[in-house]
Amino acid sequence: TRLAVFASGQGSNFVALAQAIQAQQLPATIVRLIVDKKNAGAIEKAKQLGIPYTLVDYRHFADRQAAELAILDQLNQDQVDGILLAGYMRLLTETLLTPYAGRIINIHPALLPSFPGTHGIQDAFDYGVRVTGVTVHYVDAGMDTGKIIAQQPVVIAVDDQLIDVEARIHAVEHQLYTATLAMLLERGEFIK
Ligand code: GRF
Repeated sequence: TRLAVFASGQGSNFVALAQAIQAQQLPATIVRLIVDKKNAGAIEKAKQLGIPYTLVDYRHFADRQAAELAILDQLNQDQVDGILLAGYMRLLTETLLTPYAGRIINIHPALLPSFPGTHGIQDAFDYGVRVTGVTVHYVDAGMDTGKIIAQQPVVIAVDDQLIDVEARIHAVEHQLYTATLAMLLERGEFIK
């Protein structure tokens, strides 16, 4: 199964996925990283891992659809079966959602449908919930609205600082994303 990872940030989930594929000998290969920011830390990780990457700067395109067409073209060239979003800070349109229907998944650092959006960890912390967590879900056109695949709770202690919760959430993300990927591969998902 040929996978692409999309990331905008540090790429710790990208690295966890790549390492798990290797360590657990999962029947998959990450054939490309797509990044939308030239200073994304994920680029350096791709270089270290020897995974090709493509920078797609949306500002150089007329609109979101045009940028996604360039991505789609690259994915077709790479014969990508499935897409893993890992901190990709953009919504996708039908340009990618239709050809990859049911084959795009995302990780979110909260228990959806609570705390969607770009600050899931902080929003849960600020609200004062005592249990938050991590969600892996299929991607649709909405903001963190697709069908849920897997969730894992993370307890927030009364004396926790935000950084404590962040560290715990990220550790759970790395574990849950790789376990969920293994399950989906086992089920033969991502194959058209
Ligand atoms: C993760 O917390 C992910 O859930 C969120 O963005 C963060 C990306 O972290 N959407 P990284 O780039 O994988 O380190």
